[in-house]
Amino acid sequence: MKLYYAAASPFVRKCLVSAHELHIGDRLELVPASAHPVNRDRALVAQNPLGKIPTLILDDGVALFDSRVICEYLNDLGGGGLLPPPGAARWRVLVDQALADGIMDAAVLTRYETFVRPENLRWSDWVGGQLDKVSCGLTDLERRAASLAGRVDLGTIAVGCALGYLDFRYASLAWRERYPATAAWFAGFAERDSMRTTAPPAA
Ligand code: BEZ
Repeated sequence: MKLYYAAASPFVRKCLVSAHELHIGDRLELVPASAHPVNRDRALVAQNPLGKIPTLILDDGVALFDSRVICEYLNDLGGGGLLPPPGAARWRVLVDQALADGIMDAAVLTRYETFVRPENLRWSDWVGGQLDKVSCGLTDLERRAASLAGRVDLGTIAVGCALGYLDFRYASLAWRERYPATAAWFAGFAERDSMRTTAPPAA
C-alpha cells in the first residue's frame, strides 16, 4: 500500500501511529506529497480529487481518504483493537478523535493563514477564531483527561497527534501550563514507540 504523506502533517501522523500500534507499519510505502492548498500536487489530485494528505492507495489501486477512513481501514487490516465494538465506548473514542481532529484542523488552517497567505490578505479575526477553537478544544480535553488514561485507540492516538502538532508549530502557546491534566497524560503517551518514531521533523 502507498501512503501519500508529509512528515509534518498531524493527520498523516495519526495513520502512521495507528499502523505502528497495529504492527503493520512495514506494509506502508511512504510517497512524499505536498499538501499545499494553492499549488496543488497534481500527482496526488489524480488519486484524491481533494489533493489532501494522507491518501492511501491500496494494492488494487483503490484510493482511501481521509485520515479517519484510513485509520479505520488500518484497524480492520491489523485485526482491530483501536476501536471498541459498537456501543458507548466506541462513541467515546470517535468523539475524542473528532475533537482532536478539529483541533488539528484549526491549527493547520492557522498555519496556512500565517505561513502561506500573503501578509496583506491575512485576517486576524479569522486566525483568532481558529485559535479559539484550539483553546476551547483543549479546555474540553482537560475535562476528559482522566478518561484518556491507559487507552491506546483512535481517540487517544488523535489526541496525541494534535498535542504533538501544537508542540511542533505552536510552542509559544505553552498549552501545558493551562491544561495540566492533559499535559500529564501526554507526557506518558508521547513516550510510546509509535509516537517517538513518528515525531515531526524539527520545526
Ligand atoms: C505543516 O507544515 O505544518 C503541515 C504540512 C502538511 C500538512 C499539514 C501541516
